[in-house]
Amino acid sequence: MTEAATRFVTPVTFQALTGEPVFVDQWDARIDDNMAHIALSRRADAMLVAPATADFLAKLAHGLADDLLATMCLARDCPLLAAPTMNRQMWLHPATQRNVAQLVADGVTILGPASGDQACGETGLGRMLEPLELVDELAAFFVPRTLAGRHVLLTAGPTYEPIDPVRGITNLSSGKMGFALARACSAAGAQVTLVAGPTALATPRGVQRVDVRTAQQMHDAVMAVLDAPPASGTLRPDVFIAVAAVADWRVANASERKLKKRSADDLPKLEFAQNPDILAAVARRADAPWCVGFAAESEDLEANGAAKRAAKGVPLLVANIGHATFGRDDNELLLIDERGSQPLPRADKAQLAQALVTEIARRLPPRRG
Ligand code: CTP
Repeated sequence: MTEAATRFVTPVTFQALTGEPVFVDQWDARIDDNMAHIALSRRADAMLVAPATADFLAKLAHGLADDLLATMCLARDCPLLAAPTMNRQMWLHPATQRNVAQLVADGVTILGPASGDQACGETGLGRMLEPLELVDELAAFFVPRTLAGRHVLLTAGPTYEPIDPVRGITNLSSGKMGFALARACSAAGAQVTLVAGPTALATPRGVQRVDVRTAQQMHDAVMAVLDAPPASGTLRPDVFIAVAAVADWRVANASERKLKKRSADDLPKLEFAQNPDILAAVARRADAPWCVGFAAESEDLEANGAAKRAAKGVPLLVANIGHATFGRDDNELLLIDERGSQPLPRADKAQLAQALVTEIARRLPPRRG
C-alpha cells in the first residue's frame, strides 16, 4: 500500500480481510536484508496496481522510486498491470494521457478505467473496474489467445416455460458452466455472444449478452445472431456452443390469466408441445458454425453421448451427468468426437472451461473467407 492508500483503508483492515501480510514501508523490518522492493516482487507472476491514481501513473511513467510500491514497480522482473482510478477531468488531462501512453509504450497493461458515478459526485471515465472484473482481466492476461479473430456464440442456463403469468416449468441448470465458458472464450481472445436463460449470474466482461426466458426465444435469439447482416467490427459466428439446458417441451395451453385453485377433482390439465431443438437447427444450416453440444445424462455417458452427437450432427459433444453438475462449482466432462472419447477430470468449472477452450481451438478448422 502507498501512504495515500492507507488514508482510505488501514493496513490492519487489509491484512485482516486478506489474511496476507501488508507492506507499506521500504524499510520494513520483516525483510531481513532491507530489500523489500526486491524480495516482494521476485516471487510474483505479475504485479497489478489497483487502484492506480493519477499521481502513481505519473510516477511510474517517469521511473520515480520514492516509496515501496514505486520502487517495486521499477525493480520488478514480471509484467505490470495498472487499473487507473481518478476524477474524469484528471483522467482526460493531457498530462495523464501522456503518462498513460508512455506506460503502454513501456509495456504496462492498462485495465480500464470504466465510466460511471465517481466518488466526487461527477459522472464519467475514471472509475476503477469492479474488483471481480480485475480478477477476470488478470486471469485472462495469462491465457494464450487461441480464439483471437473468432466469434463464439453460446447458449447457457435454463429456460422457463410459462404455465400462467405467475407459474412456469424450468430446471436446475444454474448457467455456471456456460458463463464460465463464455468467460474463457473471451479470455482466449474471441468475440463472444451469450444467449442466456433466466439466471442471476453477472455478465463476464467483454461478453455481449442477450437475455431470454423460453426455448423459443432462445432459438429466435440464436438465429437472429446467425442471420444478422455483416456489420463493421462484428464477425460471423464461427463456433456455436450449446450449453443451455433447454426445456424439451413448452405448455401448449398456457393460460393468459393465473389459474385458480378449484376442487381436488377439477385439476388443471397441461398439454405440451415440442420446443425447437436449437443445436440441431443450427447444425443443419448450410452456413453452420462449428458446433459443440452438451449432453446432460443420468447414466451411460459414453453410449448416450455418442448417440446424441450423431443425432444432432455435431463434431464435438461434451457429456456430463446432469443432476451431478447442475448448480455446482465443479464438474467432470467426457469429450466425444469422431475419433472416440476423452475425459476431462473433475475440476472447478472455470478450469474445465479453459481446458475445453483449448480442445475446441485445437479442433477448429481455419476461418472461412
Ligand atoms: N438442446 C438445444 N435445444 C433443445 C434441446 C437441447 O439446443 N431444444 C441442446 C442443449 O443445449 C445441449 C444438447 O442439445 O447442447 C443436448 O441437450 P440434452 O437436454 O442433453 O438432450 P436432448 O436433445 O434434450 O435429449 P434428451 O433430453 O432426450 O436426452
